[in-house]
Amino acid sequence: MSQPPARRTVLRGAALVGAAGFGVAACSGGAQKDNGMPDKAIALGDAADVPVGGAKLYRENRLVVSQPSEGTFKCFSAKCTHAGCVLSQVTKEEGDCSCHGSRFDVTTGQVLQGPATEPLPEIPVRNKGGKLIVG
Ligand code: FES
Repeated sequence: MSQPPARRTVLRGAALVGAAGFGVAACSGGAQKDNGMPDKAIALGDAADVPVGGAKLYRENRLVVSQPSEGTFKCFSAKCTHAGCVLSQVTKEEGDCSCHGSRFDVTTGQVLQGPATEPLPEIPVRNKGGKLIVG
């Protein structure tokens, strides 16, 4: 015959579940500040992956990098300023958010179409030996 767990045992278990839940929440935010700036420098990959006159979306890093003219790179947070979705795609120099239809110029961060009203925050990026380093 089993006995119900003691009240103290139940409370201790609930506390452990709560602590584990907090740990997951703390990690899921990623190493990025609210403005999209990474906490530490990130190597995104080959600069050659970003087309001249176009852009590349790094969804896993929540960043978008464009190259408006050869050798000039611009990086922005890919987190939509409307409600925080990550941009869904880039076409040439335009980033689209499929959540509510906002569109951004990914060479300036400016809003092309709402409902977003604020531009994408710009993030420092440099080309170091053919590799893009952000932050
Ligand atoms: S979150 Fe991007 S348009 Fe609403």
